[in-house]
Amino acid sequence: MKNQDDANRTPVTVLGLGLMGQALAGALLRAGHPTTVWNRTAAKAGPLVAQGARLAGSVRDAVTAGPLLIVCVSDYDAVHELLDPLDEVLEGRTLVNLTSGTSRSARETAEWAARRGVTYLDGSIMAVPEAIGTADSVLVHSGPRPAFDLYEPTLRSLGAAMYLDADHGLSSLHETAVVGLMYSTLNGFLQGAAMLGAAGVNAEAFAPIAKTATGMVVDWFAGYGRQIDDGTYPALDATLDTHLAAMENVIHESEFLGVSTDLPRFVKALADRSVSDGHGADSYAALIEQFRTSSS
Ligand SMILES: NC(=O)c1ccc[n+]([C@@H]2O[C@H](COP(=O)([O-])OP(=O)(O)OC[C@H]3O[C@@H](n4cnc5c(N)ncnc54)[C@H](OP(=O)(O)O)[C@@H]3O)[C@@H](O)[C@H]2O)c1
Repeated sequence: MKNQDDANRTPVTVLGLGLMGQALAGALLRAGHPTTVWNRTAAKAGPLVAQGARLAGSVRDAVTAGPLLIVCVSDYDAVHELLDPLDEVLEGRTLVNLTSGTSRSARETAEWAARRGVTYLDGSIMAVPEAIGTADSVLVHSGPRPAFDLYEPTLRSLGAAMYLDADHGLSSLHETAVVGLMYSTLNGFLQGAAMLGAAGVNAEAFAPIAKTATGMVVDWFAGYGRQIDDGTYPALDATLDTHLAAMENVIHESEFLGVSTDLPRFVKALADRSVSDGHGADSYAALIEQFRTSSS
């Protein structure tokens, strides 16, 4: 059984030294891990080698350097392009795949790993590269719990390392959910910036007001989450009818200013459907039923 001091010295291999892979390898080096790196474009390893990383001459050389392999490349196709030819040297090692993808690609890769005797954790990074190695970085993992427990002290060098579930798909599913949230939030900011910009107000001046307003909305998540789980949507704050009137204002203001109405019209169309389904007197959380309906 490893104690934490031993685990802190676990040799780690990092495959993929893009913006994120470089940040991961850098954090591992700062935490004192013997770190072997490999990248298709070897020149990107320069700064890490200067910090003490060993640059492997081939993927095979990198994989055989230690028991723990972290992969962070563009997509799952690249993961398989790198690792598929290495079946025999992969056996018995633990692969932590921090590449972004879908839950389906994560589960398929878990099956691929099982056929090769590889212990597989699928991870997702909820952080930007500059946050890696700090408390602002959250990494979620799914797969076999004992593997996570064994390497948790090492994974904690990268940020707050969380375990989700034995289902390998859940970390990617969380990541795609969070990415969807991120784009909705950013699009709301861009709509507001376009509206204010048409009136001569700088987007940078809007940013602090947008931040405060977003913080208010974030505070509604837990209560709405409870209503969604319960399947009842009491309007404790505002009814969907009230929201609908506010949505119409956003459309009319955008029309008046000559900016796009695509996003506000889409948002209102969802609310219109929910109101026609009888949810006008319910809270905003009742819209979940629109999101649960398949678009195909
Ligand atoms: N950057 C972020 O803020 C962030 C946040 C969360 C998650 N992620 C995820 O982290 C992963 C990497 O992102 P990144 O920002 O590091 O991207 P990046 O800077 O574009 O780096 C991509 C990496 O993938 C490698 N690669 C791509 N195709 C390859 C192939 N066929 N064979 C071998 N290597 C290949 C690249 O090698 P070359 O250097 O040779 O091109 C490079 O090391 C992505 O899945 C991304 O979604 C990134």
